[in-house]
Amino acid sequence: MLRCRRLPRLLLLIAAVASISAAGACAADDVPEVPVAADGSVDPVLVDGRRVYIDRCANCHGNDGGGGRGTKLSDGLMIRRYPGIDEQVQVIADGVRAMPAFDEVLDIAQIVAVARYTREVL
Ligand code: HEC
Repeated sequence: MLRCRRLPRLLLLIAAVASISAAGACAADDVPEVPVAADGSVDPVLVDGRRVYIDRCANCHGNDGGGGRGTKLSDGLMIRRYPGIDEQVQVIADGVRAMPAFDEVLDIAQIVAVARYTREVL
């Protein structure tokens, strides 16, 4: 008897958890995937960069880097503005005006990875 009464609640809980994780997946779904190279490999640094981008940047710069509260980063803009990656890494580390500094929350490898992601994937 007890088990029967608990079942609907359990199902509801499962449905709720499933829809929450589905929403999470959707949020990251339109963040461009790292392209697969001709030999079938995927650059792990760019995969890390995408993860950092989803966690730390997409809310301001847009899922596709098209801009929002933050400026547009996509369509090769970063390579044109920062021909060398070092300058861009510096901006992400130090911040600029309304752009927060990330040197205390990300390590240098993560900053380089996310910079590469904005240059090579977005
Ligand atoms: C709280 C919102 C916010 C977050 C989070 C944020 N940014 Fe920004 N970002 C901005 C704003 C606003 C600017 C424009 C600053 C200015 O020039 O006035 C900007 C500028 C930039 C620039 C310089 C763009 C240019 O045209 O020169 C880069 C590069 C950048 N952000 C990368 C990132 C990366 C990478 C992340 C994640 C690690 C990130 N931002 C997270 C708001 C944000």
